[in-house]
Amino acid sequence: MKNYLDIINFRHACKIFDDTKKIKSEDFDFILEAGRVSPSSTGLEQWDFVVVQNPALREKIRKVSWDQPQITTCSHLVIILAKISDIKSDSKYVADMINRRPDKTPQEHEARVNFYKNFITENFKDDDELLFQWSHEQCMYPAINMMNAAASLGIDSCPIEGFEREEVGKLLNIDPKKHRVAIAIPFGYRLNKQPVKYRRTMDDVVTWIN
Ligand SMILES: Cc1cc2nc3c(=O)[nH]c(=O)nc-3n(C[C@H](O)[C@H](O)[C@H](O)COP(=O)(O)O)c2cc1C
Repeated sequence: MKNYLDIINFRHACKIFDDTKKIKSEDFDFILEAGRVSPSSTGLEQWDFVVVQNPALREKIRKVSWDQPQITTCSHLVIILAKISDIKSDSKYVADMINRRPDKTPQEHEARVNFYKNFITENFKDDDELLFQWSHEQCMYPAINMMNAAASLGIDSCPIEGFEREEVGKLLNIDPKKHRVAIAIPFGYRLNKQPVKYRRTMDDVVTWIN
């Protein structure tokens, strides 16, 4: 790889993987680590990752994911779950996230507790739909970090949201009050050549205000 743009351009939505090729465990750990350290709004890390390697479960997930072959042909299937109940203003998770950072004074601590409480209640009203929207947005940061980290090692991926969200959640046995499926990302090695990348021109995308 020459530079970061080469890495970004190597990444594409791979439609089918070579199911004979497996990602080495240290390479997969590197991909997960890139996801784990991703940025998040207010530092709440509104995600959990599930790695699905069970072939029978993958077949079932594929059936409710537009029958997309990436799900069953990939080497490793990551499903990012968006947190819901954990990011409500009075949750233990939020308290734990606050408490893990040392505060200099009790007043500083109280100010941070109040900041989180007000921020969450004012913006999301402890409403599952609004919380999911927020959480889901945050899940895209580990998603792209993991895909680009994979590309830096010559590993392919495909972001997938072409699925029946509730059905995938049921197959993963998740409690819908606690989590919703945000995005699935199969990782592996491409079977076919990378197609041409279509993107808008820089002039069309960027407006400069001087
Ligand atoms: C949130 C999201 C969901 C997507 N869902 C799917 C999907 O279900 N199946 C698929 O083949 N590609 C999916 N894509 C890939 C896009 O179609 C693809 O990124 C886009 O067409 C640009 O192509 P490229 O990524 O190959 O450069 C998704 C992309 C994103 C960001």
